[in-house]
Amino acid sequence: MYDIEKIRADFPILARKVNGQPLCYLDNGASAQKPQVVIDAILRGYAEDYSNVHRGLHTLSNISTEKYEAVRGIIARFLGAAFEDEIVLNSGTTEGINMIAYAWAMPRMQAGDEIVLSVMEHHANIVPWHFLRERQGVKLVWIEPEADGSLDPAKVLAAITPRTRLLAITQCSNVLGTMVDVKTICKGAQAQGVPVLVDGSQGAVHAPVNVADIGCDFYAITGHKLYGPSGSGAIYVRRERLAEMQPFMGGGDMIRDVCRDTVTYADPPMKFEAGTPGIVQTIGFGAALEYLMDLGMENVAAHEADLAKYAGERFSGLNWVQVQGNAPAKAAIFSLTLDGAGHAHDLSTILDQKGIAVRAGHHCAQPLMQHLGVAATARASFGLYNTRDEVDTLIDGLELCHRLLG
Ligand code: ALA
Repeated sequence: MYDIEKIRADFPILARKVNGQPLCYLDNGASAQKPQVVIDAILRGYAEDYSNVHRGLHTLSNISTEKYEAVRGIIARFLGAAFEDEIVLNSGTTEGINMIAYAWAMPRMQAGDEIVLSVMEHHANIVPWHFLRERQGVKLVWIEPEADGSLDPAKVLAAITPRTRLLAITQCSNVLGTMVDVKTICKGAQAQGVPVLVDGSQGAVHAPVNVADIGCDFYAITGHKLYGPSGSGAIYVRRERLAEMQPFMGGGDMIRDVCRDTVTYADPPMKFEAGTPGIVQTIGFGAALEYLMDLGMENVAAHEADLAKYAGERFSGLNWVQVQGNAPAKAAIFSLTLDGAGHAHDLSTILDQKGIAVRAGHHCAQPLMQHLGVAATARASFGLYNTRDEVDTLIDGLELCHRLLG
């Protein structure tokens, strides 16, 4: 059973007040709070076991290395990857996608080659592809969402031409909450020999993931959205794609031998992990994923689906609130604008006075904002510890905004 009070007690920050009000934390899409097990893992990582990894033969280095490397296995299990060496550890999705752009895409793409992406991508899955457009003449092909914010897999697949080299698609829009049928996209793309990169930053947070079942070539995740530390993350890279990749960053830990005139590299995934990594962050990330697997991602998904349904019902009773996107498959992410209201920042400021944390702005998704014809929204994004009572708190806060701004 999903014991929400017990779960909330696992997150110490939820007990604090903000501006004299109980914290109502609805900014999980930007970054989620951390359970005590993650905080403890970080504390132990520094207070008891800390040393650099992969380098020393001394006891502390061995302990740190063992704990750090164990996380690769935890991530593989969380993502359903067949092999641990398909997991490249990094600081998060932005690094992961940039690595694919530099290490895999740049060496193999030429002017006129095409990358297909949706208009609802986060900048982390747009700007690295702009680099290829600017530097190599690669064409970006954009797929628009439907009126309800859903993304039609058939439209994505219909955009494939003989010049298509990659599809780069989010599994869940950080603005609309739309869950994308990436499995159908991958199946169709694979049949035409086109690799698919899935941005799992938001998708992996809200539902169980299995990369083998999805059939993607790349799947990027971010630790701090998965209730782990900031500065942690990973990207799943299918073995055959790993073999095609050139080293990205050069430095310690990614080499076999360095001479004056030659260099040879470590095998993947180490080949793509130059320098001292975020050791303790990664160990904390492992603790977060174990926490999620103990809860069961299917239980988290069911809890959030209930919140999404309830919030949807409450919003439908307010005719002065516009919710952007109401796709049939939608995570508990609600981007809001109010009739007559000033900037979304005004909403966020008023809600903050009531202890309600939401993000206001373009959410690093400007092409989507241009498509929607809005400059900004106020976004309430729910997580595994939120409650129906907090939905009510948000609605009360919005009613206040309506009175003050409407
Ligand atoms: N990508 C994060 C968000 O959606 C920061 O807010």
